[in-house]
Amino acid sequence: MRLSLAYLLPILVTSIPAQLLLPKLFAPTDDSSRQTPLVMSPATTLNQGGVLISDVMGRDRSVNVFAGFARDVAEVARRLDDAGVNSTVLAPLNSAIEKLPGKPWEDADDYGALGATAYEGDEGRDRARRNIRRFVEAHVVPVSPWREGEKATSLLDGDREIWWETKEGRMVLQPDGIEIQSVASRVGNGEVWIVKGVRGHP
Ligand SMILES: *[C@@H]1O[C@H](CO)[C@@H](O)[C@H](O)[C@H]1NC(C)=O
Repeated sequence: MRLSLAYLLPILVTSIPAQLLLPKLFAPTDDSSRQTPLVMSPATTLNQGGVLISDVMGRDRSVNVFAGFARDVAEVARRLDDAGVNSTVLAPLNSAIEKLPGKPWEDADDYGALGATAYEGDEGRDRARRNIRRFVEAHVVPVSPWREGEKATSLLDGDREIWWETKEGRMVLQPDGIEIQSVASRVGNGEVWIVKGVRGHP
């Protein structure tokens, strides 16, 4: 969790003699752009100054569409910003998302049941949000490091088991058969992998 210093400072200054606290609060970290958390859980203490998936996922422009979706799903965003839980994010390339027959929040069943206006109005928006959440959850594995051949299930409720293996020198997500292009980042709470396809749509 990030706390805004501008918001907290007046509270601190009025409640506690500031000179007693400030040297500790502003202890230098490796990355000066990252604030030292004012309230430290044991996990953040261990990862002090460490970089998290939430910090790096949006940096790679080739997956920034997925990164944007993940930021919008509160439960997932919180997880990726938590130093105490690890994840392997399978971030599909923007180009893979653009190649989908529809938008990731569209579901053929919704259109079948509700017709062309399935995503209009408040209920439509909720439906779209639910579908995006499922899309994002299907691309986050709650395990890191994730070893080759290790069976895991994504955050998506009721998802089938997935694993990865090396085939002709390439990492492949199975049983979807989606090529893993690269491990884009390794940070304190896991890894971001760039994948060439979208799960459920190999
Ligand atoms: C979480 O990831 C870090 C960094 O790779 C690793 O050192 C740590 O052992 C992992 N924790 C768990 C519970 O897998």
